[in-house]
Amino acid sequence: MTLSAQSCTRQLRLLGSLTKRRQSARLHICQVGWMDHCTQTERGDPKSKEWSEPESDRYVETGRLSSRLEGDTMSGSEAIFSRLKEDHDKHRALLDRLLETEGDSSEREELFTELTKELKGHAAAEEQAVYSTMLRKPETTDDTRHSVAEHHEIDEMLNDLAATDMSSGAWLQKFKSFEHRYRHHIEEEEEDHFPEFAKHLSENDEKQMAEVFARRKSSEKADAEVTPEKKGEAKE
Ligand SMILES: [Fe+2]
Ligand SMILES: [Fe+2]
Repeated sequence: MTLSAQSCTRQLRLLGSLTKRRQSARLHICQVGWMDHCTQTERGDPKSKEWSEPESDRYVETGRLSSRLEGDTMSGSEAIFSRLKEDHDKHRALLDRLLETEGDSSEREELFTELTKELKGHAAAEEQAVYSTMLRKPETTDDTRHSVAEHHEIDEMLNDLAATDMSSGAWLQKFKSFEHRYRHHIEEEEEDHFPEFAKHLSENDEKQMAEVFARRKSSEKADAEVTPEKKGEAKE
C-alpha cells in the first residue's frame, strides 16, 4: 500500500517543529523510509553516498539471507552492532562521571557539553545508518518508530537541561531522570532491537550500515547544538 502525497506533506509539516539539525536527520529518515513512495525528485538521489538499497531486499529470495541466519559469518553484524554498543558504553561512563560532579563547576559544564554532542551525534548517525533501513521492513517498523520517538524525547530532555541553571537542585533532579531514561533506551536497543534487526539483514546490509555510521557520526557530533533553546526557558 502506498501513502498519499498528503501524508507525505503532513510528515514534512511535523518536521517544522524540530530544530534544524533534527529536521535534517528526520528528513533523511523520511527520504529513505517514511516517504519511500515519494517521487524521485522529492526524496533525492537514492544512489547518493548516504543511501544504498538494503541488500536483504535483493537477496532474501536467493537464500543467501537464510544461510546467513543459519550461522554463516557474522562479521558485518558484529561490526555495526558492536560499534553502537561501544558508543553506549562511552555514554554510560559519561553519565557516571556527570553524577559525581557538583554545582555549576567547569567539569560539569564540560562533561555535559561532551555528553550532549555525543548523544545527539550518535542518535542522528544511528538513524541514518540503521533505523532508516529498519523502518522500511514491516517486521521492524514498530521497534524503529519507538526508538526514533525516544531519540526525539532524549533531545528534548537534553535541551531542557541545557536551559536549566546547573547550580540548582532542579538540574540534578532532571539529570537523574534523564540518565534513567537514556540507560533504558540503550539497554532496550542492545537487548531487544539489535538482535531482532540482525535477523532481517544480510551481511552486506550490516557492512553498509557500519560504513554510513562511521562516515556520519563525527560530523553529526560536530554539528550538534548544545543549547538550541534559550537559557531561562527551562521547564518547571
Ligand atoms: Fe538510539
Ligand atoms: Fe544507540
